Amino acid sequence: MSTLEHLLAGNKAWAQNIKQSDPQFFEKLAGIQTPEYLWIGCSDSRITPATSIGLLPGEMFVHRNVANLVNHSDMNCLSVMQFAVDVLNVKHVIVCGHYSCGGVMAALDNTRLGLIDNWLRHIQDIIHKHENVLNAAPDYNSRLDKLCEINVIEQVVSVGETTIVRDAWDRGQDLTVHGWIYTIADGIYRDLGVSIDSLADLDAMRNSTFENRNITIA
Ligand code: CO
Repeated sequence: MSTLEHLLAGNKAWAQNIKQSDPQFFEKLAGIQTPEYLWIGCSDSRITPATSIGLLPGEMFVHRNVANLVNHSDMNCLSVMQFAVDVLNVKHVIVCGHYSCGGVMAALDNTRLGLIDNWLRHIQDIIHKHENVLNAAPDYNSRLDKLCEINVIEQVVSVGETTIVRDAWDRGQDLTVHGWIYTIADGIYRDLGVSIDSLADLDAMRNSTFENRNITIA
């Protein structure tokens, strides 16, 4: 049987390293969890959400799935969101996609990969909804970039439309939903400028032609 000793050794070195700079770090961490941020991002192995934005363990609650989707029948994502908003009282939900997303690409190319095709079907609905803008893209790469961005924005709207976030806004809770996109090639996150923190913002976003914004950066 092949073992994972190298990973356990790596873990020991990591914990030792942190303890050297802050001997009480793990004891303090074990006491309470008070993150201000909920991250909803892609499962892509090249992205390390908390560390790549300079956060320490304990500072961000994280949910990840293929292509960072927020579906209203996904009990996993909804449960994470409900716990984060109602119990942990996070102040920010960051929906983060990335360029060159394999899930978004498979949906765009209509590639058959198996069970996951059903999950990615949600992106194909987005493709149909924004067909005109996507077809107007000059080439395949810019169409894919645009779809990665539009997918994030659609998920920001989707987060805002959950009962969890609507109820939080109804009771006056301070909660902002943000849409970011990551470029793997330079390690930089960009804010897509679609933050919403109220039902009015959500309505405005839903009724806007956001896909026409010139937001393609990569
Ligand atoms: Co991805």
